[in-house]
Amino acid sequence: MNDRKKLESLVKRLLAWYEKNKRALPWRNEPSPYHVWISEIMLQQTRIEAVIPYYERFLQELPDIAALASVSDDRLMKLWEGLGYYSRARNLKKAACTVMEKYDGQLPDTAEELRRLSGIGDYTAGAIASISFGRPEPAVDGNVLRVIMRYLGKTDDIALQATKKETAASLRAVYPSGESAKNLTQAIMELGESVCIPNGQPKCGICPLSAFCSAKAENLTDSIPFKSPKKPRKQEPKTVFLLSCRGNYAICQRPETGLLAKLWEFPNAQGKLSEEEAIRHLSSLDLSPVGITPCGDAVHIFTHIEWHMTGYAAECLYPSERFVWKSAEEILSDYAIPSAFRAYVSCIKKEQKGL
Ligand code: ADE
Ligand code: SF4
Repeated sequence: MNDRKKLESLVKRLLAWYEKNKRALPWRNEPSPYHVWISEIMLQQTRIEAVIPYYERFLQELPDIAALASVSDDRLMKLWEGLGYYSRARNLKKAACTVMEKYDGQLPDTAEELRRLSGIGDYTAGAIASISFGRPEPAVDGNVLRVIMRYLGKTDDIALQATKKETAASLRAVYPSGESAKNLTQAIMELGESVCIPNGQPKCGICPLSAFCSAKAENLTDSIPFKSPKKPRKQEPKTVFLLSCRGNYAICQRPETGLLAKLWEFPNAQGKLSEEEAIRHLSSLDLSPVGITPCGDAVHIFTHIEWHMTGYAAECLYPSERFVWKSAEEILSDYAIPSAFRAYVSCIKKEQKGL
Protein backbone atom coordinates (compact mmCIF):
# COMPACT_ATOMS: atom_id res chain seq x y z
CA MET A 1 0.00 0.00 0.00
CA ASN A 2 1.28 3.48 -0.75
CA ASP A 3 1.40 6.19 1.92
CA ARG A 4 -1.72 7.92 0.70
CA LYS A 5 -3.78 4.75 0.85
CA LYS A 6 -2.35 3.97 4.27
CA LEU A 7 -3.32 7.43 5.54
CA GLU A 8 -6.85 7.05 4.16
CA SER A 9 -7.13 3.88 6.16
CA LEU A 10 -5.74 5.63 9.25
CA VAL A 11 -8.45 8.29 8.99
CA LYS A 12 -11.21 5.68 8.97
CA ARG A 13 -9.76 3.67 11.80
CA LEU A 14 -8.97 6.59 14.04
CA LEU A 15 -12.42 8.14 13.63
CA ALA A 16 -14.04 4.86 14.66
CA TRP A 17 -11.61 4.49 17.58
CA TYR A 18 -12.18 8.06 18.77
CA GLU A 19 -15.95 7.67 18.89
CA LYS A 20 -15.51 4.93 21.47
CA ASN A 21 -12.45 6.15 23.33
CA LYS A 22 -12.51 9.93 23.53
CA ARG A 23 -11.88 11.37 26.95
CA ALA A 24 -14.08 13.98 28.57
CA LEU A 25 -12.05 17.20 28.54
CA PRO A 26 -13.40 20.63 29.48
CA TRP A 27 -12.74 22.22 26.07
CA ARG A 28 -14.61 19.40 24.37
CA ASN A 29 -17.90 20.38 26.02
CA GLU A 30 -18.25 23.56 24.06
CA PRO A 31 -15.53 23.74 21.43
CA SER A 32 -16.00 27.39 20.47
CA PRO A 33 -13.08 28.90 18.57
CA TYR A 34 -12.09 30.89 21.67
CA HIS A 35 -12.12 27.80 23.91
CA VAL A 36 -10.14 25.71 21.45
CA TRP A 37 -7.62 28.50 21.00
CA ILE A 38 -7.00 28.93 24.73
CA SER A 39 -6.79 25.19 25.36
CA GLU A 40 -4.41 24.55 22.48
CA ILE A 41 -2.09 27.36 23.55
CA MET A 42 -2.05 26.10 27.14
CA LEU A 43 -1.51 22.49 26.01
CA GLN A 44 1.49 23.32 23.87
CA GLN A 45 4.12 23.00 26.54
CA THR A 46 2.04 21.72 29.44
CA ARG A 47 0.46 18.38 30.36
CA ILE A 48 -3.31 17.98 30.10
CA GLU A 49 -3.85 17.38 33.84
CA ALA A 50 -1.87 20.51 34.71
CA VAL A 51 -3.76 22.59 32.14
CA ILE A 52 -7.33 21.79 33.26
CA PRO A 53 -7.50 23.96 36.42
CA TYR A 54 -5.74 26.86 34.67
CA TYR A 55 -8.09 26.58 31.72
CA GLU A 56 -11.16 26.72 33.93
CA ARG A 57 -9.95 29.63 36.01
CA PHE A 58 -8.85 31.54 32.91
CA LEU A 59 -12.24 31.24 31.22
CA GLN A 60 -14.12 32.05 34.36
CA GLU A 61 -12.34 35.36 34.56
CA LEU A 62 -11.94 35.98 30.82
CA PRO A 63 -15.01 34.39 29.25
CA ASP A 64 -14.58 35.90 25.80
CA ILE A 65 -12.14 37.56 23.43
CA ALA A 66 -13.27 41.05 24.46
CA ALA A 67 -12.41 40.29 28.10
CA LEU A 68 -9.01 38.89 27.11
CA ALA A 69 -8.25 41.95 24.96
CA SER A 70 -8.87 44.30 27.89
CA VAL A 71 -7.33 42.39 30.82
CA SER A 72 -4.40 44.15 32.52
CA ASP A 73 -0.97 42.68 31.91
CA ASP A 74 -0.46 42.07 35.63
CA ARG A 75 -3.72 40.17 36.00
CA LEU A 76 -2.98 38.16 32.86
CA MET A 77 0.43 37.15 34.22
CA LYS A 78 -1.17 36.19 37.52
CA LEU A 79 -3.67 33.95 35.70
CA TRP A 80 -0.78 32.34 33.85
CA GLU A 81 1.51 32.07 36.86
CA GLY A 82 3.00 28.58 37.06
CA LEU A 83 2.19 27.55 33.49
CA GLY A 84 5.48 28.87 32.16
CA TYR A 85 6.35 30.23 28.72
CA TYR A 86 4.67 33.53 29.53
CA SER A 87 5.03 34.87 26.01
CA ARG A 88 2.15 32.52 25.21
CA ALA A 89 -0.12 34.64 27.41
CA ARG A 90 1.21 37.93 26.06
CA ASN A 91 0.61 36.74 22.51
CA LEU A 92 -2.93 35.66 23.42
CA LYS A 93 -3.75 39.18 24.54
CA LYS A 94 -2.07 40.74 21.54
CA ALA A 95 -3.98 38.47 19.16
CA ALA A 96 -7.25 39.18 21.04
CA CYS A 97 -6.70 42.91 20.47
CA THR A 98 -6.15 42.28 16.75
CA VAL A 99 -9.32 40.17 16.61
CA MET A 100 -11.30 42.98 18.28
CA GLU A 101 -9.95 45.59 15.88
CA LYS A 102 -9.83 43.66 12.67
CA TYR A 103 -12.38 40.85 12.91
CA ASP A 104 -15.11 42.36 15.04
CA GLY A 105 -14.33 40.09 17.99
CA GLN A 106 -14.65 36.78 16.10
CA LEU A 107 -11.68 34.56 15.30
CA PRO A 108 -11.28 34.17 11.53
CA ASP A 109 -12.27 30.73 10.24
CA THR A 110 -9.39 29.79 7.95
CA ALA A 111 -6.00 28.42 8.96
CA GLU A 112 -4.35 31.03 6.74
CA GLU A 113 -5.89 34.01 8.54
CA LEU A 114 -5.52 32.44 11.97
CA ARG A 115 -1.82 31.93 11.21
CA ARG A 116 -1.34 35.70 10.99
CA LEU A 117 -2.34 36.29 14.61
CA SER A 118 0.34 36.61 17.31
CA GLY A 119 1.33 33.30 18.81
CA ILE A 120 -0.64 31.21 16.33
CA GLY A 121 1.61 28.97 14.24
CA ASP A 122 0.80 26.17 11.82
CA TYR A 123 -0.16 23.79 14.62
CA THR A 124 -2.58 26.09 16.46
CA ALA A 125 -4.06 27.43 13.22
CA GLY A 126 -4.74 23.87 12.06
CA ALA A 127 -6.18 22.88 15.43
CA ILE A 128 -8.63 25.81 15.59
CA ALA A 129 -9.57 25.56 11.90
CA SER A 130 -10.35 21.86 12.15
CA ILE A 131 -11.68 21.47 15.71
CA SER A 132 -13.86 24.60 15.72
CA PHE A 133 -14.64 25.23 12.07
CA GLY A 134 -14.50 21.71 10.63
CA ARG A 135 -11.93 22.71 8.01
CA PRO A 136 -9.84 19.92 6.46
CA GLU A 137 -6.64 21.05 8.17
CA PRO A 138 -4.25 18.86 10.17
CA ALA A 139 -2.52 20.12 13.33
CA VAL A 140 0.90 18.55 13.53
CA ASP A 141 2.58 18.51 16.94
CA GLY A 142 5.04 16.06 18.47
CA ASN A 143 2.30 13.52 19.20
CA VAL A 144 1.02 13.55 15.66
CA LEU A 145 4.52 13.32 14.19
CA ARG A 146 5.29 10.30 16.33
CA VAL A 147 2.11 8.47 15.32
CA ILE A 148 2.50 9.20 11.61
CA MET A 149 6.23 8.44 11.43
CA ARG A 150 5.71 5.12 13.18
CA TYR A 151 2.64 4.18 11.21
CA LEU A 152 4.35 4.92 7.90
CA GLY A 153 7.71 3.54 9.09
CA LYS A 154 9.55 6.77 8.27
CA THR A 155 12.91 7.62 9.79
CA ASP A 156 12.87 11.31 8.80
CA ASP A 157 14.25 13.66 11.45
CA ILE A 158 11.27 15.08 13.34
CA ALA A 159 13.39 17.98 14.62
CA LEU A 160 13.33 19.41 11.09
CA GLN A 161 10.67 21.88 10.04
CA ALA A 162 10.58 20.15 6.63
CA THR A 163 9.42 16.89 8.22
CA LYS A 164 6.56 18.72 9.91
CA LYS A 165 5.56 20.44 6.67
CA GLU A 166 5.67 17.22 4.65
CA THR A 167 3.65 15.36 7.27
CA ALA A 168 1.06 18.16 7.31
CA ALA A 169 0.85 18.07 3.50
CA SER A 170 0.34 14.28 3.33
CA LEU A 171 -2.34 14.47 6.00
CA ARG A 172 -4.07 17.45 4.38
CA ALA A 173 -4.42 15.43 1.18
CA VAL A 174 -6.64 12.88 2.95
CA TYR A 175 -8.29 15.12 5.57
CA PRO A 176 -12.08 15.01 5.89
CA SER A 177 -14.25 18.09 6.62
CA GLY A 178 -16.97 18.92 9.10
CA GLU A 179 -17.53 16.77 12.16
CA SER A 180 -14.88 14.29 10.99
CA ALA A 181 -12.20 16.99 10.73
CA LYS A 182 -13.04 18.05 14.26
CA ASN A 183 -12.74 14.50 15.52
CA LEU A 184 -9.73 13.45 13.49
CA THR A 185 -7.48 16.23 14.79
CA GLN A 186 -8.26 15.27 18.36
CA ALA A 187 -8.13 11.56 17.62
CA ILE A 188 -4.56 11.61 16.31
CA MET A 189 -3.38 13.71 19.26
CA GLU A 190 -5.13 11.50 21.71
CA LEU A 191 -3.72 8.32 20.22
CA GLY A 192 -0.27 9.87 20.57
CA GLU A 193 -0.93 10.80 24.20
CA SER A 194 -2.50 7.59 25.40
CA VAL A 195 -1.53 4.71 23.08
CA CYS A 196 1.40 5.55 20.81
CA ILE A 197 3.15 7.18 23.75
CA PRO A 198 6.46 9.06 23.74
CA ASN A 199 8.30 7.50 26.65
CA GLY A 200 8.20 3.79 27.16
CA GLN A 201 6.71 1.12 24.94
CA PRO A 202 3.79 2.12 22.72
CA LYS A 203 0.66 0.14 23.50
CA CYS A 204 0.41 -1.55 20.11
CA GLY A 205 -1.81 -4.27 21.61
CA ILE A 206 -4.70 -1.82 21.99
CA CYS A 207 -3.92 0.40 18.98
CA PRO A 208 -6.50 0.60 16.18
CA LEU A 209 -3.65 1.03 13.67
CA SER A 210 -1.56 -1.96 14.67
CA ALA A 211 -2.53 -4.24 11.76
CA PHE A 212 -1.14 -1.69 9.28
CA CYS A 213 1.62 -0.07 11.28
CA SER A 214 5.08 -0.30 9.70
CA ALA A 215 7.08 0.43 12.85
CA LYS A 216 5.21 -2.31 14.68
CA ALA A 217 5.62 -4.81 11.82
CA GLU A 218 9.33 -4.12 11.50
CA ASN A 219 10.02 -3.79 15.21
CA LEU A 220 11.17 -0.20 14.83
CA THR A 221 9.18 1.52 17.56
CA ASP A 222 12.39 2.16 19.51
CA SER A 223 14.12 3.96 16.68
CA ILE A 224 11.10 5.82 15.23
CA PRO A 225 10.52 8.71 15.58
CA PHE A 226 14.10 9.74 14.92
CA LYS A 227 15.09 13.09 16.36
CA SER A 228 18.51 14.66 15.89
CA PRO A 229 20.07 15.80 19.17
CA LYS A 230 19.64 19.44 20.16
CA LYS A 231 22.60 21.53 21.15
CA PRO A 232 23.09 21.52 24.91
CA ARG A 233 21.44 24.24 26.98
CA LYS A 234 23.54 27.00 28.43
CA GLN A 235 23.97 26.64 32.19
CA GLU A 236 23.68 29.80 34.21
CA PRO A 237 24.62 29.87 37.89
CA LYS A 238 22.68 32.42 39.96
CA THR A 239 22.29 33.47 43.55
CA VAL A 240 18.79 34.28 44.76
CA PHE A 241 18.15 36.44 47.83
CA LEU A 242 15.15 36.16 50.09
CA LEU A 243 15.51 39.52 51.77
CA SER A 244 13.18 40.29 54.62
CA CYS A 245 12.64 43.49 56.56
CA ARG A 246 10.00 44.09 59.20
CA GLY A 247 7.83 41.24 57.97
CA ASN A 248 8.07 42.17 54.28
CA TYR A 249 10.08 40.58 51.49
CA ALA A 250 11.96 42.22 48.63
CA ILE A 251 10.81 41.58 45.07
CA CYS A 252 11.65 43.30 41.82
CA GLN A 253 10.36 43.34 38.28
CA ARG A 254 12.28 41.76 35.42
CA PRO A 255 13.20 43.82 32.35
CA GLU A 256 10.60 44.73 29.69
CA THR A 257 11.97 42.24 27.18
CA GLY A 258 13.66 38.87 27.14
CA LEU A 259 13.24 35.80 29.31
CA LEU A 260 10.26 36.10 31.72
CA ALA A 261 9.81 39.75 30.72
CA LYS A 262 8.11 41.99 33.29
CA LEU A 263 7.39 39.17 35.72
CA TRP A 264 8.36 39.56 39.37
CA GLU A 265 11.30 37.86 41.02
CA PHE A 266 13.39 37.84 44.15
CA PRO A 267 16.57 39.90 43.93
CA ASN A 268 19.34 37.82 42.45
CA ALA A 269 22.89 37.99 41.16
CA GLN A 270 24.88 36.26 38.45
CA GLY A 271 27.08 33.41 39.63
CA LYS A 272 27.07 31.08 42.59
CA LEU A 273 28.15 33.25 45.51
CA SER A 274 29.60 31.93 48.76
CA GLU A 275 28.15 33.23 52.00
CA GLU A 276 30.93 35.86 52.29
CA GLU A 277 30.51 36.92 48.68
CA ALA A 278 26.76 37.12 49.21
CA ILE A 279 27.19 39.44 52.21
CA ARG A 280 29.62 41.61 50.26
CA HIS A 281 27.20 41.76 47.34
CA LEU A 282 24.30 42.83 49.58
CA SER A 283 26.44 45.45 51.27
CA SER A 284 27.43 46.85 47.89
CA LEU A 285 23.70 47.36 47.24
CA ASP A 286 23.43 49.43 50.44
CA LEU A 287 21.49 46.69 52.13
CA SER A 288 22.31 46.05 55.72
CA PRO A 289 21.96 42.32 56.25
CA VAL A 290 21.91 41.19 59.86
CA GLY A 291 22.81 37.57 59.41
CA ILE A 292 22.43 35.41 56.36
CA THR A 293 21.45 31.76 56.04
CA PRO A 294 21.45 29.40 53.07
CA CYS A 295 17.89 28.63 51.95
CA GLY A 296 18.41 25.92 49.43
CA ASP A 297 19.59 25.20 45.91
CA ALA A 298 17.26 24.81 42.94
CA VAL A 299 17.50 24.14 39.23
CA HIS A 300 15.09 25.41 36.61
CA ILE A 301 15.23 24.26 33.03
CA PHE A 302 14.02 26.57 30.26
CA THR A 303 14.06 25.77 26.56
CA HIS A 304 17.54 27.12 25.86
CA ILE A 305 18.96 27.80 29.28
CA GLU A 306 19.22 26.24 32.75
CA TRP A 307 19.36 28.23 35.95
CA HIS A 308 21.38 26.67 38.75
CA MET A 309 20.37 28.67 41.79
CA THR A 310 21.77 29.02 45.27
CA GLY A 311 19.55 30.77 47.78
CA TYR A 312 20.24 32.91 50.85
CA ALA A 313 17.76 34.35 53.28
CA ALA A 314 18.80 37.58 54.95
CA GLU A 315 17.04 39.93 57.33
CA CYS A 316 17.80 43.57 56.56
CA LEU A 317 17.73 46.55 58.87
CA TYR A 318 16.23 48.95 56.33
CA PRO A 319 14.02 48.37 53.26
CA SER A 320 16.20 49.59 50.40
CA GLU A 321 14.25 51.60 47.82
CA ARG A 322 15.92 49.58 45.12
CA PHE A 323 13.25 46.90 45.70
CA VAL A 324 9.53 46.62 46.31
CA TRP A 325 8.82 45.30 49.83
CA LYS A 326 5.63 43.35 50.34
CA SER A 327 4.19 40.90 52.80
CA ALA A 328 4.05 37.21 51.91
CA GLU A 329 0.24 37.47 51.52
CA GLU A 330 0.52 40.37 49.08
CA ILE A 331 3.23 38.68 47.06
CA LEU A 332 1.27 35.46 46.78
CA SER A 333 -2.01 37.10 45.81
CA ASP A 334 -0.96 40.02 43.59
CA TYR A 335 2.41 39.33 41.97
CA ALA A 336 3.18 36.79 39.27
CA ILE A 337 6.40 35.04 40.20
CA PRO A 338 7.53 32.46 37.63
CA SER A 339 7.89 28.82 38.67
CA ALA A 340 11.65 29.10 38.27
CA PHE A 341 11.50 30.61 41.78
CA ARG A 342 9.11 28.01 43.16
CA ALA A 343 11.57 26.73 45.76
CA TYR A 344 11.99 30.23 47.18
CA VAL A 345 8.28 31.02 47.05
CA SER A 346 7.83 27.87 49.17
CA CYS A 347 10.22 29.35 51.75
CA ILE A 348 8.06 32.42 52.23
CA LYS A 349 4.92 30.29 52.28
CA LYS A 350 6.43 28.18 55.05
CA GLU A 351 7.43 31.22 57.05
CA GLN A 352 3.98 32.67 56.59
CA LYS A 353 2.53 29.52 58.10
CA GLY A 354 5.07 29.78 60.90
CA LEU A 355 6.84 26.52 60.02
N1 ADE B 1 -3.31 17.84 23.07
C1 ADE B 1 -3.27 19.04 22.49
N2 ADE B 1 -4.50 19.40 22.09
C2 ADE B 1 -5.32 18.40 22.42
C3 ADE B 1 -6.71 18.17 22.27
N3 ADE B 1 -7.48 19.06 21.68
N4 ADE B 1 -7.18 17.02 22.71
C4 ADE B 1 -6.39 16.13 23.30
N5 ADE B 1 -5.12 16.29 23.48
C5 ADE B 1 -4.57 17.41 23.04
FE1 SF4 C 1 2.07 3.37 17.60
FE2 SF4 C 1 2.11 0.73 17.98
FE3 SF4 C 1 -0.07 1.94 17.09
FE4 SF4 C 1 2.06 1.69 15.54
S1 SF4 C 1 0.80 0.06 16.33
S2 SF4 C 1 0.81 3.51 15.77
S3 SF4 C 1 3.68 1.95 17.02
S4 SF4 C 1 0.88 2.22 19.09
